[in-house]
Order: sequence, then structure tokens, then C-alpha cells
Amino acid sequence: MTAPVRPWLLPDLPVVLVSHRGPVSFRRDQTGARTASRGAGGLVTALTGLASSLPDAVWVCAATTNEDMAVAGEHGDQAVEVTLEPKPRVVGEADPAVGSTSQPGCVKLRLVQLNEQAHDDFYTVIANPLLWFLQHGMYGLAHAPRLTRREHIAFEDGYRAVNQRFADAVVEEVTVRGGRALVMLHDYHFYLVAEQVRERCPEAVLSFFLHIPWPGPDAWRILPPAWREHLLTGLLGNDVVAFHTEGFARNFLLTCQELLGLPVDLQAMTVDLGDRQVAAHHYPISIDVAAMRELAASAEVAEHARGLREAFCAGDRQLVLRIDRTDPSKNIVRGFEAFATLLADHPELLGQVTFLALLQPSRQDVPEYADYLAEIGAVVARINASYVREGHEPIDLRLQEDLPLAVAAYTVCDVLMVNALADGMNLVAKEAVLVNTHDGVLALSENTGAHQELGAFAVTLHPFDIQQQADALYAALTMDPGLRRARREAAALVVQENDLGKWLAAQLADLPIHPQPSR
Ligand code: F6P
Repeated sequence: MTAPVRPWLLPDLPVVLVSHRGPVSFRRDQTGARTASRGAGGLVTALTGLASSLPDAVWVCAATTNEDMAVAGEHGDQAVEVTLEPKPRVVGEADPAVGSTSQPGCVKLRLVQLNEQAHDDFYTVIANPLLWFLQHGMYGLAHAPRLTRREHIAFEDGYRAVNQRFADAVVEEVTVRGGRALVMLHDYHFYLVAEQVRERCPEAVLSFFLHIPWPGPDAWRILPPAWREHLLTGLLGNDVVAFHTEGFARNFLLTCQELLGLPVDLQAMTVDLGDRQVAAHHYPISIDVAAMRELAASAEVAEHARGLREAFCAGDRQLVLRIDRTDPSKNIVRGFEAFATLLADHPELLGQVTFLALLQPSRQDVPEYADYLAEIGAVVARINASYVREGHEPIDLRLQEDLPLAVAAYTVCDVLMVNALADGMNLVAKEAVLVNTHDGVLALSENTGAHQELGAFAVTLHPFDIQQQADALYAALTMDPGLRRARREAAALVVQENDLGKWLAAQLADLPIHPQPSR
């Protein structure tokens, strides 16, 4: 899936994209052959459209598998061209007929090889959990976090070292493009890159987009002063720092004001560094509407939808759905507890309603995530044992990633539950309301970026209040059919009119990268 980028919005200078996960990852199969798979997730989908529309773009990302490292090594650690369609692979490899010149649908990838210990410290000690938990407000401060020598070493030799490696790679890519390029940095993995690139490539235009929440200044006091200053001054190396919501952008300015003592303008949304200003903008990310509709209309999805309808929607039976990574920020355990409360309060629903949870195991090398997955299994077993009736278990938990099945489930569900503790946006909510054909109700956490656009058409969930979530699920399941339809259609229209192309276009239009009209 790629998002269309209107040609007149494309920058007139080369683009260097930077994210931790790239659009393709390589492995060896059992026969020893190299295989490649597309990266999943909103960030990758969003950037793929841009990268493949531009003739001279390079995507700098981490080599996260042994085979990624082999590919990088074979190309002397320089960018390698990959095709994404119909199946991802290195251009010229396995199918020499494809040739090796740049072509539409190709992306240049610079896979950055990292020392294993450094990457582990960067990813499993600092980025996830520390920054992720802090930014999603997930710490119970009486017990966590505990910053010991281990974390101090991980910040220096992991987070800072990996950011340094990425800055070096970006500087090389900008330099081979003549020193002037648009560098688009993505997410909390790379707060320190812009400052270093600006020093060494003063003509580069630097933008940063954060895909997760930015909390207010007090949350950042969890970090040692030197760390938070590094993170903030690193970010202020950008020309623009962008977020999903205005609230996150405002929090960022207030953090610069309070923790760095810098003057900020909350009207103009800028922070003043003396010799230049940094803008804090907000652009709510979205989905590729045409691609999602195309997938929803495919034969594979239709086949899955038939099976799901037979299994869960016969007669007047109803289906509650959730689709998430097994991330503690998604609040999956409380969601199941709310469903159990619903069944306890309304026993007439037993056997009538099923909760289908399609969950993708995530970040299992981070202990907090492994523990959370175990907790999910335990709570589901407990609830199913308590509420099983005539062989019908109320929760169907599937730990797998299957996009066509997920989209089929979107189309047939009666209620989609999104009860995240905090979420930068939440694209599941947008995908589901777009393609649902059952006038399904969106039950949406007030703490998601998506709630700002879709909350008016949703049943709002308060993520810490299990009873409220149970009552809200009941309201959704018993909602008047006319109201269900009107709300679903209104929500779909909002998504349709604010698709991924608009998200990209708004950012590109605001950057100083377009040729000035000649007078
Ligand atoms: O922005 C959230 C994010 O980090 C995305 O970059 C990514 O798609 C998703 O979470 C999953 O994270 P990870 O790459 O750590 O599996």
C-alpha cells in the first residue's frame, strides 16, 4: 500500500527519510534462500508512499536482522535499491530482468548496521520501555522506573551511540546529495540526530515527526537533567518538530520553556533559540483510504468475512472486536475486564456476544512486554472459564498478524474497542470506521489522538474506569440502528476527507523547500 503524493507538492530537493523500522526486512528461509517482508504499521505505510514517489530519496533505517546486515554488508554499507511490488526484494537480485536503475515503486534503503549490545540497550532499555512508558504516562512512580548504572550505560552506549551512528549515515547521504536535502526524522528513537546533522550540514532542512504522545514538562522530570537536556536540545536541531495533536505540540513548547528556560510563543507555536526559531506543528496522521478500500473489497477479505459472519454473527449474535499490538499502552487487560463486567451485569448477553481479539505479539525482548502478554493470556483464560456457556467461550483470543483477516473483522464487527491508556493517533479506529459494513460502533478511548477527529461519532471510553467501559460497551451493543448507521457514515466521511495524502501534503507545504515563483 502506498499513498499518492501529488507531484506539485514534492520537494525540489533530495529527501533523506529516517525511521527505526524500515519498509523491508530480510531473512533466510529453511532452504537458505533470502526472503524479504514488508514492514507493517502506520509509520512505514505513510513514508513508503513518499519514498517511492521521489526520484532521489533514501530511507535510512536500522538493520534489525542478520540478513539485513548481510544485505548492508554486500553493498558496502551504502544504500541499496529495493522493489516493493509485487514482492519486496533487492533490485537485480533473483530477477535480473528487473535491472538496476531507479524505477517507480523502488525505494533506496540505507540499512544501518549497529553493534548488537548498543542496539539492545537503545531499544530494550531506553526507547522501549523508558521513553515509551514515560511518554504514555505508564509509570507508577512509587516503583518504577529505577535508573541504575545499567540505564546510565544504556543511555550513553546505546541511545546516544545509536543516534550518533544514524547521524553519521544521514550526514553521508546529505553530503552525496550536495549538502542540501530535506531530512525527515521519525519518532522517539531519534531525538538526538538533528542537532548533529545541522552542525555538519548547515544547508539541510530538518523536520521531525513524533508518532506517540508528548506529555507535559513534569513527566520529563523522571529523567536525569542531563538526559532531558540532551533530548530537548537534540530535537531543537530541527526546523520543525511535529506531532499528531495541538496538545502534544503545546506540551513540547511548555517543556522547552520549563526545562530549558527558553522563550516560547504559544500563539505562533514557536520556541526562540536567539539566532533562529523552531516551529511546533501538528498534523494528524491518517490511512491510505483508497488502498484500504481496495483491500477490503478483495476476494481474500470477502472469504475471511464469510467465515467470521458464520462464526460470530449468525442470527442476532453480535461481535466486539479489538486489533492491537500486545502493548501495555493499549490497555488490553482492562478491556477484557470491562467485557467480563458487561457479561456479569447483563447475563442475557452470554452466548449472544463474542469478543474477538486479534493481537500481534510485540517487543517480546522487553521484559515489561513479555510479562504483559502473559497477563493477557491469564485474564482471558480466567474470563472464559467463568463465562463459558454450552461450549461458547466469550473471548476468542488469536495471537497473530494477518492483515486480510483483520480487515475482514473490521468489515463485520458490531463494536470496535479501542481503550488505549494513551495513543498518539490510533489508526485501527480510522481503518475500521472506513470499511465496516455492519454499521459498527466505535468505542474509543478519550486519550487517543483519533478521539479529536472521531470522538463525536464514537462511544467514549475512559481507559482507567472498567465499569464505565462495560457500560459504554452495553450502550454500543444496544444503540439504535439508525444512530449506529449515521455515526458510522459520518466517521467514515471524516477519514475519507483527511487521508494520508493530506497529512503528507500539509507537512510538505509548510516546509521551506519549494522553489520561489520567479517575478
Ligand atoms: O510510532 C510507534 C511505533 O514505534 C512505530 O514506529 C512502529 O510501527 C510501532 O510503534 C511498533 O514498534 P516496533 O517497531 O518497536 O515494533
